[in-house]
Amino acid sequence: MNTPVIIGNATLYLGDCREILPTLPKVDAVITDPPYGLGIDGQKESMRRDGSQLRKHHEKLGWDGAIPDGELMQAVLAAGTQQIVWGGNYFSDDLPSSRGWLVWFKGQTGLTMSDGELAWTSLSIPLRVKNLHRTHLWQESPEHPTQKPTELMIWCLSFVPDAQTILDPFMGSGTTGVAAMNLQRSFIGIEREPKYFDIACRRIDDAQRQGRLIA
Ligand SMILES: C[S@@+](CC[C@H](N)C(=O)[O-])C[C@H]1O[C@@H](n2cnc3c(N)ncnc32)[C@H](O)[C@@H]1O
Repeated sequence: MNTPVIIGNATLYLGDCREILPTLPKVDAVITDPPYGLGIDGQKESMRRDGSQLRKHHEKLGWDGAIPDGELMQAVLAAGTQQIVWGGNYFSDDLPSSRGWLVWFKGQTGLTMSDGELAWTSLSIPLRVKNLHRTHLWQESPEHPTQKPTELMIWCLSFVPDAQTILDPFMGSGTTGVAAMNLQRSFIGIEREPKYFDIACRRIDDAQRQGRLIA
């Protein structure tokens, strides 16, 4: 196992969460966005009508070929006292029933793409909806093909206000960590792809620097 990269109050592991999770202490909350098994990890570049870039090219790395199996999902849930799992509708065989679902409504209906995304939570809260237009992400110049908006992950963290340490075992470009840094929480992240791990390190470092500047 690689030695983790420590950036302030973030501890970031490059590696497979199946190997790293058993070595970690239990955290306050797992907030994560595992592969949905849709095979959309590659992406072609696309342009706007004015010639500017809409989406970057992302090489196909194969990480979205399958969902985590039941054993891995149990290890992910056991890693924290509370849990929020994006794409919960893809993992319904391995998640207990819950009233506390979160909905990200992407502000448009009836397109070929989905109107929104669902997060399963272990929380005893009423179902909540975040209305955040799908184009909002463009302001962040996304560097991962399934990157979540930082504002969405900050909203998630508002449902676990007492959770001091947040774990994301499928960190991608590190958006959960960026949100945690914005709210002065501690963060542990795991990512298997070196390309996305490096992006996550940079984004989390930037978020900490900005926090220090504002302070
Ligand atoms: C849906 S993406 C997460 C995107 C993230 N929410 C973001 O905003 O960038 C899932 C990530 O999990 C990573 N991954 C898949 N299987 C993994 C494993 N067993 N251990 C660690 N990372 C894994 C993939 O490489 C991918 O970057």
